[in-house]
Amino acid sequence: MTPLDRRSFLAASAASVPLLSSIASAQDQGRAKPQAAQSFRPMLIGSGNSIPAVTKAMELMRSGSDPLDSIVAGINIVEDDPNDQSVGYGGLPNEDGVVELDASVLHGPSHKAGSVAALQNIKNPSSVALQVLRRTDHVMLVGEGALKFAKALGFKEENLLTEKSREAWLRWKANLNPGDDWLNADQQIKPGDFNRKQSRAKQLGIPYTTGTIHCSAVDTLGNMSACTSTSGLSWKLAGRVGDSPIIGAGMFCDNEVGSAGATGRGEAVIQSCGAFQVVQHMGNGVEPTEACLRVLQWIADHTKQSFLLDEEGRPNFGVTFYALRKDGAYGSATMRVQKDRPNSERFAVHDGMQARLENCTALFST
Ligand code: GLY
Repeated sequence: MTPLDRRSFLAASAASVPLLSSIASAQDQGRAKPQAAQSFRPMLIGSGNSIPAVTKAMELMRSGSDPLDSIVAGINIVEDDPNDQSVGYGGLPNEDGVVELDASVLHGPSHKAGSVAALQNIKNPSSVALQVLRRTDHVMLVGEGALKFAKALGFKEENLLTEKSREAWLRWKANLNPGDDWLNADQQIKPGDFNRKQSRAKQLGIPYTTGTIHCSAVDTLGNMSACTSTSGLSWKLAGRVGDSPIIGAGMFCDNEVGSAGATGRGEAVIQSCGAFQVVQHMGNGVEPTEACLRVLQWIADHTKQSFLLDEEGRPNFGVTFYALRKDGAYGSATMRVQKDRPNSERFAVHDGMQARLENCTALFST
């Protein structure tokens, strides 16, 4: 991390003055009496594509809605948007041209989780995950079982492959091999192949995404919740499950501590139990942005395959973490930003007043 990166994250942390600390310091000075019930600042954070989601969720939380219901309703807006090719309807398909969606939710107060993976034909996997939480004694349903469950509850089956995503899939198929997910023998030894896969796709005008939507929330009662939803890695092998539906990887929440989520290369986030680690760090007193940076560094230290490393031995893929502490302090950090594009990785914040994008702190600048 460059000195500039660290300075900007310290400034961001300072800007997120927790309501509880100000109450506590006023009490220390004898200027305020404890309130009958603790009051928390309602806060929402999310991935850069979650502005519509955090806006809707804050509106619902203000009207008294549960934080998990609120973020799922917000995320539904982005899942329904055909222009976001990383989530829900219009998401980029797997290598067979089939859209398979993953999502998970965790309700802080009850510490119950729900999750679906490789779900086809239902555009709101986050809502199905919420029903797994509410209506079953299970945590995770996958594939056909998840679809059967969703249909039983009245979710409408529909074709999720938009013309735009189908065209992109056909272009990808026509250029197969350097961009698929089957490892070639020489990929074990050639550095930079992951990068090449993405840059080749870019040159050919083929979208390539590990994009996802994540939101974390805390309401005025201090109740927290988390939700992550995705169409996953584009052109993935059929049945591939990413980090988003894995509790502790793509999202995690501990109602007494905080909530976290991830976007980016799911394989790296699963292998690091990413969101769980972020929350654990916060529980140990680490500031939210620093907690995200520590897990990114952990991933960097544990990435061994040469085709996932750049010339300097650093991960050549993207991962971004988002962290919200119970007292409203928040942060986000990303694996890398280009030096000439320091604002390229951003995350969404809603502090009860307005929704805005803030820059993620970068572990590496390239
Ligand atoms: N983070 C999304 C995925 O890898 O599926």
